[in-house]
Amino acid sequence: MFDKFNRKINYLRISVTDRCNLRCVYCMPEEGVELLDHKEILTFDEIVDLTKAAIRKGVEKVRITGGEPLVRNGIIDLVKMIGEIDGIKDYSMTTNAIRLDKFADDLAKAGLQRVNISLDTMNPEKFKQITRGGDIQKVFDGIRAAKKAGLEPIKINCVIKDDNQEPDAVEVAKYCKENGLHIRYIKEMDLEKGEFSIVDGGTGGDCGTCNRLRLTANGNIKPCLFSDISYNVRELGAERAIDLAIGNKPETGHTNLTGKFYNIGG
Ligand code: 5AD
Ligand code: SF4
Repeated sequence: MFDKFNRKINYLRISVTDRCNLRCVYCMPEEGVELLDHKEILTFDEIVDLTKAAIRKGVEKVRITGGEPLVRNGIIDLVKMIGEIDGIKDYSMTTNAIRLDKFADDLAKAGLQRVNISLDTMNPEKFKQITRGGDIQKVFDGIRAAKKAGLEPIKINCVIKDDNQEPDAVEVAKYCKENGLHIRYIKEMDLEKGEFSIVDGGTGGDCGTCNRLRLTANGNIKPCLFSDISYNVRELGAERAIDLAIGNKPETGHTNLTGKFYNIGG
């Protein structure tokens, strides 16, 4: 389906949980966040129905995000249920890789094609600081497992402050080169201040060619990361919520005061 500005909407990002096993400084406050009530979180069947409706309307690319998708109970079953839907050409997940070592094989068997992994530094202490306690070794183990399982091409999301020549980013780039991984630099954004930018090496942040819809864990379809517009699937039904989101996708984003990365997905 095309929107009012003739953009072909063919990419659905599904946030399957607002929970995360890390607390990255640019994403979550230290004390954690108020979490959604379990009743509010869409069931697997609801997510599958919505995805089928989106595919009928032209979606061909599906990404599973969070929070951290691998902390949702039964995630492999959900990945399989979505993987069995006809019409998905590109099927991926964004993960922090902390639990990927354990899940990579099953994800590949469930039909997932590839993963994007967040990694901002090669320094274990700095990693611990950025993620407020994360163990970088688990990420490396996860990356190795993903390669072994064939979840490729593997893309590394590297958040930068200003530019990709910062020492941490340079080291991550070196590691990626040595290990056959593709690096994407993401400038740190502030949704509330409306600070967003084009993802270097990715497709995000360019409003003129934006092809995305987002589904939040509690069933809101959002046509734009930098806007508060959203349509609830439970209230409106999948078809109508999707139609309204595509029909009202803003030409360009401004600010988003209600959402954060952990609940809409990066
Ligand atoms: N700015 C830019 N990227 C962010 N992410 C999370 N918060 C921010 C932010 N404030 C990204 C992380 C991760 C993805 C899920 O979202 O890098 O790769
Ligand atoms: Fe978790 Fe990703 Fe947010 Fe870090 S950026 S706290 S890994 S959701």
